[in-house]
Amino acid sequence: MSDQPPIRVAAPDLGGNEERYVVEALRSTWISSTGAFLDRFERDFAAVCGTRHALAVCNGTVALHLSLLALDVRRGDEVLLPSLTYVATANAVRYVGAEPVFVDVDPGTWCIDPDALEDSITPRTRGIIPVHLYGHPADMDAINHVAAVHGLWVVEDAAEAHLAKYKGRPVGSLARLATFSFYGNKIITSGEGGAVVVSEPQLELRLRTLRGQGMDPARRYYFPVTGYNFRLTNIAAAILCAQLERADEIVERRRQLFASYRELLGDIPGVSFQPVAGWAEPAPWLFCITVEERDFGRSRDDLMRMLARDGIETRPFFIPLHTLPPFREGARKRGDLLPATDILARSGMNLPTYSSLAAGELERIATAIRHAARARATSY
Ligand SMILES: Cc1ncc(COP(=O)(O)O)c(C=O)c1O
Repeated sequence: MSDQPPIRVAAPDLGGNEERYVVEALRSTWISSTGAFLDRFERDFAAVCGTRHALAVCNGTVALHLSLLALDVRRGDEVLLPSLTYVATANAVRYVGAEPVFVDVDPGTWCIDPDALEDSITPRTRGIIPVHLYGHPADMDAINHVAAVHGLWVVEDAAEAHLAKYKGRPVGSLARLATFSFYGNKIITSGEGGAVVVSEPQLELRLRTLRGQGMDPARRYYFPVTGYNFRLTNIAAAILCAQLERADEIVERRRQLFASYRELLGDIPGVSFQPVAGWAEPAPWLFCITVEERDFGRSRDDLMRMLARDGIETRPFFIPLHTLPPFREGARKRGDLLPATDILARSGMNLPTYSSLAAGELERIATAIRHAARARATSY
C-alpha cells in the first residue's frame, strides 16, 4: 500500500458562488421545486445548449425516462442504443416497457456506429439514443439521416458531454430531445441532478406536464395524464447556477489536464488515447486510455490494480450492457455481435480528472503507469 495521499478519480469543482447561492436559496425559504435559481438555471442551460427550453429534473436517468414518456414509447417498442454506455440508458428504455437493442460503436468515435444502425432496425424500432460517450459527440448528422429515412426519433444522451460541440453546434441541440446528468463526477454538477433540453413547444409542454405529476400547467390541480414527480430542488439549481457561471473556466482547466496527460503518456507503448473526430470538440470529462496488453506488457486490470496499490483510483470502461443479466438473453436471441464494443470494454480505463488535480499528482500518475509498463518489460 502507498504511503502517499490517495488520488480520487473524480471530484467536483465547487470553488465559485456555489456556497453563497445555496445559502441564498435557504434564506429565501424557496427550497423545493419552485424558485429563482431554477428559473435562472433553466434559462441559462437552454442558452448553453442552443435550445428553446431546458427542464431541470432530479437526475440524468429520470431525464431519459421522462424523454421516453414524452415520446410515447411503449411496451413492445424497440430502441437502438450502444452497449458501451452507463446502464441508465438501457434502464430508462425498460422503465417504459420497451426493449433496448444494442448496436456496436465506431472505433473512430467510441459512439454508436451510424453504419451499423440499419441492420438492427425492425418494424418495432421507434428511436435511437446515441450516447456522447466519455464526452465525445456521436456522429449526429449520419444518425439523424438514418432516423429520418426510417421515421425514428432521436434522443441524445449527453450525460457525459456538457458543452461539447459537433460541427460547431452544441450537443443538446442535435436531436428532438437531449438529456444531461449533473451527478457529482460530471463536468457541471449539483451532486444529483439532470436536465432535458428541447425546442418543440408541444414536446416541451408534455415534458413539463409529466415532470410535475401530470398537472396541466395552465390549470392547477387538474391532472389530464398520470405523471411523475421528477422535479429538481431550487437548492440544487443554486449550485448549478454557480457552476454555469464558471463552466468555461472548468472546461478549460480540464482541457489543460487532458493536454498534460497526452504529453506525459504519449510515448508509452501499448497506451492509446480516445480518438477525436475531425468535426468534434469533445467535452473533457474523464480522461481515457486504452491498454494493449501485448505492447504494454500488462493487462488493463493489472495496471488498475497496481495504480490502486499506489493510492490512485481509476475506473474501468463500462461493462457492455449486452453481457449483463437484465439484457443478455435478448441480445443472445437477436445475435447481437459487437466486436468494437468488446475490445474497448476490455482495454479502456479512466484516469483521475478534476480541476484541483495538481501537476505533481499528474506526474505521480504518469510515473506509476510508466513504471507498470517498465516493470514487466525488465522481467522478460
Ligand atoms: C451515459 C449516461 N447516461 C445516463 C446517466 C445517468 O445519470 P444519473 O446518474 O444522473 O442518473 C449517466 C451517468 O451518470 C451516464 O453516464
